[in-house]
Amino acid sequence: MSETSIFSAHVVRWQEKHGRSHLPWQQTRDPYRVWLSEVMLQQTQVSTVLEYYPRFLVRFPDVAALAEASEDEVLALWSGLGYYSRARNLHRCARQVMALHGGAFPATAAILQSLPGIGRSTAGAIAAFCFGERAPILDANVRRVLTRILGFDADLALAANERALWERATELLPSSHLAQSMPRYTQGLMDLGAMVCLVRKPLCTQCPLQSQCVAQQEGTPEKYPVKTRKLIRKSESWWLLLLRDTTGRVCLNRRPSTGIWPGLHSLPMYASRGELVTQSALAGAMRILELPSFLHVLTHRDLHLHPVMVELDVNALPDHEEAWFSSEQWRSLGLPAPIRKLLETV
Ligand code: ADE
Ligand code: SF4
Repeated sequence: MSETSIFSAHVVRWQEKHGRSHLPWQQTRDPYRVWLSEVMLQQTQVSTVLEYYPRFLVRFPDVAALAEASEDEVLALWSGLGYYSRARNLHRCARQVMALHGGAFPATAAILQSLPGIGRSTAGAIAAFCFGERAPILDANVRRVLTRILGFDADLALAANERALWERATELLPSSHLAQSMPRYTQGLMDLGAMVCLVRKPLCTQCPLQSQCVAQQEGTPEKYPVKTRKLIRKSESWWLLLLRDTTGRVCLNRRPSTGIWPGLHSLPMYASRGELVTQSALAGAMRILELPSFLHVLTHRDLHLHPVMVELDVNALPDHEEAWFSSEQWRSLGLPAPIRKLLETV
């Protein structure tokens, strides 16, 4: 056996004995179900996906059902998973599968990648799991495992280095019995990243690749992967206007299609408390109540949110662009998770 096939054989054997095998999306080769799980898992941890995944499948058992739904309904079921562009792309992807592929997911990574929300790694995972294609994946976990094993210390902020790592990942793939080995191998790399090759303090003594791992031999696996570009975190404060009438309805507007929570319904937001009071024309307000401020962390910024609740007499409602929603109505909308939580507590 060549070096590389020894490597993949170790991963496959370890996966069979020690990897995860009871996750719901492992019990199927239906590309719809695998695709849905991979998109949910892109930025959300397994424990959370385990709650949403079955619920989503009950409402949308196949790609046709998802394609027929309204975007708002998809967003509502997605509410709480975050990164809502995923939900929007999910919906667009389902419609494209119906319109351009006759309702069947394409069976190669190359064509899967042409669909909305399916990047190279997600396409590779679907193709490997469902069709046994010899296609690599390189999500954050697998990138960590492979850079460590290979001692790949080139800066992944540079596209050329990222491309080189994809090539190395391709070389390492199994080369025989692909229908069985590709799903095992792919899951094995994911499992190693999630269970053994941890970001901090990897469990090298439990790792099937220990004897071949360059990073482990160097003694400092944590230095991989190398990526220089640092995210600049921004911090922002927003005042949220929670207008309520005496019947319990609340005022919501739709966020613009760019910026924070694009396209979702939310409470009107103002850059200062003063702006909130003047711009919202609070004449007729019965009661102004400051609610506790809270922090909401997004990928690139920290949001300090300051809710201000105002109760209005139904007969003195100001002329707002926003629309009024009963609690039954807002519960079925796509709302950002912190806004939903806030509305549920008042
Ligand atoms: N993360 C991404 N894909 C996954 C999968 N199939 N199983 C567990 N975690 C994952
Ligand atoms: Fe990761 Fe350690 Fe295994 Fe290398 S030996 S792949 S660093 S867990």
